[in-house]
Amino acid sequence: MSRVYLSPPDISPKDHNALDAVLSSNWVAPVGPDLAAFEEALGERLKRDYAVALNSGTAALHLALQALEIGPGDTVICPSLTFAASANPICYCGAQPVFVDSESQTWNMDPALLEQALIEQSSIKAVIVVHLYGQCAQMDAIVELCDKYKVALIEDAAEALGATYQSQPAGSFGDLSFLSFNGNKIITTSGGGMLLSNNADWIERARYLATQAREPVLHYEHKEVGFNYRLSNVLAALGKSQLGDLDSRIEKRKAHFEAYKTELSALPGVSFMPIAPTGEPNYWLTCLTSAQVDRTVILEALEAQSIEARPLWKPMHLQPVFSDCFCYGGSVAEELFEQGICLPSGSSLSSKDRGRVIAAVRACFAL
Ligand SMILES: Cc1ncc(COP(=O)(O)O)c(C=O)c1O
Repeated sequence: MSRVYLSPPDISPKDHNALDAVLSSNWVAPVGPDLAAFEEALGERLKRDYAVALNSGTAALHLALQALEIGPGDTVICPSLTFAASANPICYCGAQPVFVDSESQTWNMDPALLEQALIEQSSIKAVIVVHLYGQCAQMDAIVELCDKYKVALIEDAAEALGATYQSQPAGSFGDLSFLSFNGNKIITTSGGGMLLSNNADWIERARYLATQAREPVLHYEHKEVGFNYRLSNVLAALGKSQLGDLDSRIEKRKAHFEAYKTELSALPGVSFMPIAPTGEPNYWLTCLTSAQVDRTVILEALEAQSIEARPLWKPMHLQPVFSDCFCYGGSVAEELFEQGICLPSGSSLSSKDRGRVIAAVRACFAL
């Protein structure tokens, strides 16, 4: 029985050709024309004037915080229900994370609790908003709050490339936004990320820091501590090729969501991630909650059938590493974690394998 993966890379013959072409061109070490073309293509898609391609989404967030000059003594707000990479870079900068619970319409950061945090916390320099599992947060309320309280907004669109909110692309709202091209994402460069903004100075600063803070002189001159965070031209060529298929990948992932919903939503206690009418997700992962059958029972049953599925993210306020951080609310994220499951959703998932997943989940409910 072949294994069904959660969200594996989907590499087409076109991607192979793109990699052959970039290797033949010898633009291997490490910057080159594909890098600039990839940045330009995503800038266009996200309606951003400037972009810098990096070796991970985590590096992109680290540089976003650096561009905003966030450091010791500063506080940064972040949703609790997310992957640790949305919060870790706050600590790289010596700043303090404060977490905010989810709302139940999109599972993203609750604007009412965000406002409470903005009123009560001192030294807030930035808010990181995450578009979880490919669905945008309530951006009108969140953008308005960040304007009102004069704090910078960083959009973590790592999971949401191609999603829209009120017809505008995920990643087009914050002062800075970033993407991930990790192997499990809707398009991949094996590992990679991108930082985008309409502010040229921030992106130039990020590009400079990402290349070991090398001064633009003939010899190697450094006035600051830098990082080795650039994406390679080879991987950018893969990313550019993958980007060409983004819309068809969204369609395929959406078809999985709809099929799972049709087949599984009548099961007792099962609900799917609600889709808010304000936007169109990229359907990165289909997620459901199971209120009656223990989600661990379902995950183990799937694993027994060689099907990879996962719990939803464990909230940051429950993570030992962040145990000394304050969290506004927390019960919504906790319940989602206790009951939630991500189902196999890759663009290469066949309807036959999707049928295997459906049958294995249904079997958990058969008495
Ligand atoms: C919400 C979220 N933020 C940030 C990241 C970090 O991206 P990367 O793995 O490219 O560092 C990821 C994915 O891995 C993610 O899912």
